[in-house]
Order: sequence, then structure tokens, then C-alpha cells
Amino acid sequence: MKKRLVAGLLVSLMATSLVACGGAADSNSGDAADAGDGTTTEASGDTAASGDAITVGFAQVGHESDWRTASTNSVQAAFSEENGYDLEFVDCDNDSAKQIEAVRQFIQDDVDYIVIDPIVSTGWDTVLTECEDAGIPVIVIDRTIDDSDKYVSWVGSEFMNEGLAAGTWLKDYAAAKGIEDLNILVIEGSNGSSAQIGRTDGFKKIADAEGWKIIDSQDGDFTQDGGQQVMESYCKSYEGKFNVVVCQNDNEAFGAMDAMKAAGVSYGVDKDVILISFDACKAGLEYVQSGDINADFMCYPLQGEYCAAIVQQLEKGETVAKQTFMTEPWYVAEDVLDSITYTNNAGEEVTEELVVVTDAASQASY
Ligand code: AHR
Repeated sequence: MKKRLVAGLLVSLMATSLVACGGAADSNSGDAADAGDGTTTEASGDTAASGDAITVGFAQVGHESDWRTASTNSVQAAFSEENGYDLEFVDCDNDSAKQIEAVRQFIQDDVDYIVIDPIVSTGWDTVLTECEDAGIPVIVIDRTIDDSDKYVSWVGSEFMNEGLAAGTWLKDYAAAKGIEDLNILVIEGSNGSSAQIGRTDGFKKIADAEGWKIIDSQDGDFTQDGGQQVMESYCKSYEGKFNVVVCQNDNEAFGAMDAMKAAGVSYGVDKDVILISFDACKAGLEYVQSGDINADFMCYPLQGEYCAAIVQQLEKGETVAKQTFMTEPWYVAEDVLDSITYTNNAGEEVTEELVVVTDAASQASY
């Protein structure tokens, strides 16, 4: 099945939609009005109902984390053969050149839709122009693209808010516990990814405002090995000098815990080091429940159904939302604070409830 965009136009910016994690993919329901500039897609007469599979190319980041595995499974389940799709999946192994190559191959293969989870946020305009010229709608998931708007729709997380929330939680938690000096080490995610940039900038904004010392901030590549290696070197270089470790995903935190354990540094509730993480995968929440991780800020990976809902809307010639944000709870080990209030990336003051982990198995989404 092949769908072509009317006059080469991609669907334009629509009102931002917030969607509940784990909820139905209702953000893209048919109530999205036309953007008013004629930007809509042509309904192909040749629909899924006619029996032809819709072909989709998915250029995935890689396989670096539990989060990524859940993301891959989610997209593969949503674009399954039983659901009427023929999915071309490429694991780009965290290699940007390989990812661009995968997209070009999808164009060659003349797929109906291209889904990209961009490894890095820049360097996209040329290849997205090629997709546009070929009339293939592109849907971006998870991470964002900063240097091109030549995609139809994006589904993912507000990483800056995750960083702001982590910083705000640390501020309120330290105050509640009477901890005055915060000496912080950060293990960043893959540099250049919007997840790393947003979490780093959001947390740093609070750190700067509070005058905290970020002793060091290095790339752990979102992997357990990366987290362990960076933490091993931190333990040697900054022995006895730090009391907070921020890992930008759970797998890095698992590696950092191993390194701290080996170096005789204790972490978690009322220990030497306050440990903060992001993702809130099941294993991460188990460590929150046991008190080894103090706080874990969720990044919701099950975006496949949202993505497939967008494709279905496009199939019907409907206009789709330009952005769909996941709603993501913040998890903590102790009942010290009920909620945090912070100014989000949109400049709104928001209050978020904190969820104390008492049963990781049932509280985890993945
Ligand atoms: O882009 C999402 C991030 O990438 C997740 O936090 C991390 O686990 C993944 O590898």
C-alpha cells in the first residue's frame, strides 16, 4: 500500500496533547481539527481494510537499556502482521550514520511510513527532506529532532521536565532531611541525544539556582557498563567528596551501584550517597522499593500504540497532533514528601504527586 502526501505537505503543528501512560492511545482521536492551512494527508483508497499490509520502516536507536527493549517490543507489537502491518526494523546500534542509512534504505524500499527514534537531535534536515520528496510521512518517537520540522508527528517524553523534577525533588528532599551540602556527580546518557540534553539542562537549572556543586558530569552512554566505568573512575577521583549521584537512566544506575559497592561506598536511603535515576523500569523500581535508589523519574517507553494510532489517522486522511507527550509518574523510596512543585519547560508551575514504591512488580509499567 502506498500513500502520498497532498502537494508534498506534511501535517502541521497542532495543539499539544497530553496522554496518560498506559492509557488508550486517545490523543490522536479524530477530534483533531484541520490545522487550517490545508495540511492534511490524502486518504488512500487502498486501506488496511482492503487486506494490503501497510509497510513501516522503524529506525530504532539500539539495544542499550531495559527501556530500549521495552520500546522495541512496543513498536513491534503495534505494527504486527496481525494488525495489518509489514514492519522493517533496524537496530542502529547507537550509530547515527547507520540510522541515516536505514532511513535512506526505507525510502529505497518505498515504505508507506517511516518511524525514527533519533539517536541524536541534529543532522536530520537533509534526510527528512528526502523522505518528504519521496512523499513518505515520518513519525518521530521518544527523542526529539531539533534541526528540522519535516516530520508529521512526534510522540515521547519531556526530558527537560524530568531533569527539572529530579532537581526539585533533591532540593525538597535535602531540606526535609536537613542535608545542607550537596556535592553531585552526574552520569549522563549518550551525548547529543535529546534525553541527555533535556535531563542535563533541567537538573542543572535547579543546581545553578541552588548553588550546588556539580563536581563532574560524564557520558555513561545509557548502558550498565558505561555507568559502572564512569562510577569506578569517580570513586577513585572523588573518594569521600560526593554525596549525590545522578544517573540518567536505570541501567547506568545498576552499573554505578556495582562500582560503589566495590569501592565501599553506600547508597540509597540514609546512606553515604543519595542515588537518583530515570526510566523507572521494573528492575529500577525494585531498587527504589529496597531503598537502594532514592528516586526514579519515569520515562514511558510503550509508545508503539500511540504511533500506530497516528498511522491509522493518516490512513483516514485525518490531521494528527504534532506532539504527543507521555505522562510519567515520579517514584520515591520514602514517604518524606507528598509532592513537588516546579516550573516546567513550558513555564507553568506544576505540582506532581510522588509515588512511594511499595510493590514494584505491580507499580512498574514495563
Ligand atoms: O531516549 C530514552 C532514553 O534512552 C532512556 O532513558 C534510556 O534508558 C534509553 O536508552
